[in-house]
Amino acid sequence: MGPGCINTVSVEPGPGCLESPGIASELTHWISLNFLPDLPILKLPALAGRRTRMALISWNGKYSVGVQSMDSQHNVLFAILNDLHDAMMKGHAHGITGALLRKLAKYAHEHFTAEEAMMSAATYPGLAEHRVKHRDLTRQVDEFVVRYERGETTLNLHLLNFLRDWLTNHIEKVDHGYGSWMNKHGVH
Ligand SMILES: [Fe+2]
Ligand SMILES: [Fe+2]
Repeated sequence: MGPGCINTVSVEPGPGCLESPGIASELTHWISLNFLPDLPILKLPALAGRRTRMALISWNGKYSVGVQSMDSQHNVLFAILNDLHDAMMKGHAHGITGALLRKLAKYAHEHFTAEEAMMSAATYPGLAEHRVKHRDLTRQVDEFVVRYERGETTLNLHLLNFLRDWLTNHIEKVDHGYGSWMNKHGVH
């Protein structure tokens, strides 16, 4: 899969997991205020059942870190965010949260391991600092798992915000920092 391709995550909603119209309306209102301030508040009943996939953030060149394998791995994180957003907008997020969290925890571990190994092999000077940031993201993912297991009802909103921050801050700023160093060391 090359950069620019959005990988889809195969997570299907479970049965009987439609949120009530009241909660759904609250969710779309909150999302509109926090993520889509320029758009009118979306009405969930019109969206329920739609087959169109509603991505919150699509991968594009500005998210490239200059290393193709890392761009491909980051695309998976975009897919997790967009799958969660799509499910929330269609009112069945509760049915996929557990599966998404399991995928996120597993994938974050694999991605951080690969990214740190790449930086270590190229003796990237920012490795130690970068590793601390990965540990913090890992801790936060673990906390989401605990909150999910406790049955926290507003988890999806916080998880969406967390993932959005991960993509727009960690990848675009922190990960982007190793690009030119890697390229100078023959890693593209
Ligand atoms: Fe990173
Ligand atoms: Fe990364």
